[in-house]
Amino acid sequence: KPQLLIDTDPGVDDALAILMAHAHADIVALSIAAGNVGLGHTVRNGRTLMDLVDAKVPVFAGCPSPLVRAPDEDAAFVHGTDGFGDIGFPEPRTPAEQEQAALALLRLTRERPGELTLVALAPLTNLALALRLDPTLPQRVKRLVVMGGAVTGHGNTGNIPAEFNIGFDPEAAHVVFESFPHFDLVDWEATLRHAFDEDEFDGWLAAGDKRATFFGQVFRTARAFNTANERRGIIAADALAMAVAIDPTVITRSEDRHVAIELDGRLTRGATVVDWARRLKQPANARIVLDVDQDRFKAMVRRALGAEG
Ligand code: BDR
Ligand code: CA
Repeated sequence: KPQLLIDTDPGVDDALAILMAHAHADIVALSIAAGNVGLGHTVRNGRTLMDLVDAKVPVFAGCPSPLVRAPDEDAAFVHGTDGFGDIGFPEPRTPAEQEQAALALLRLTRERPGELTLVALAPLTNLALALRLDPTLPQRVKRLVVMGGAVTGHGNTGNIPAEFNIGFDPEAAHVVFESFPHFDLVDWEATLRHAFDEDEFDGWLAAGDKRATFFGQVFRTARAFNTANERRGIIAADALAMAVAIDPTVITRSEDRHVAIELDGRLTRGATVVDWARRLKQPANARIVLDVDQDRFKAMVRRALGAEG
């Protein structure tokens, strides 16, 4: 079973991804970022999830803001003001640890060098801080999987080509993309290609256990947003990245390329600039995941909701 360090800003699709991780892998720790909503909410949501699955997993709070510039937008309009659909869950039992997330990432990878897969489902602030403190971090990580970017410019933020996780903290993304020699990149456009059929997904929610009930609740606000914005099908960016983290053999099509982050740009700050034509003779830092085996992805999600068979 893969051993996962999950950096996350839960968040509805983060929740589904974490349920997948719980069902198919060992979660070593949650490192919590600000992003979809503020850090107070995302930490609490991470703790709520660990309560739900009765997991004894440490939850580390990270950096409450991007490295340099205040973000233009959060994603409360998709995920609800508390990030979990404003259901009003009770105070979770799972504690938040005292150690700063970036420090915890460094410590845990020192304790288990080469064993841990880092899965980044949020703005990359915590990872960037950890990398600046200790640039040897990549040598101790088995793999890094990043949900982020829009590799042909079809983003999902007010900066048209920028995807949310990158656009929220472009400087942090820059540090990570420059520092990690090679990582798997699951972008927003791949997410759109791997949506689930709505009726099929509703069947899983109906057939599942308490995890499905929970997800059905937190998902309601995001779903209404998607419907209002004519987004087709059930899209879950972080779940797709998690499938790749759990089992890279689900990848059916990928391209290795150098990817850099636009930090300036009047209209393009936060864009992932892919050297598709290999003009720059730089080594490829990213394996860009273009397609995965959809049936295997679906099976992973079904099991995570307790809706197998
Ligand atoms: C990413 O942004 C967040 O809103 C989601 O949780 C996901 O990590 C998609 O652009
Ligand atoms: Ca996320």
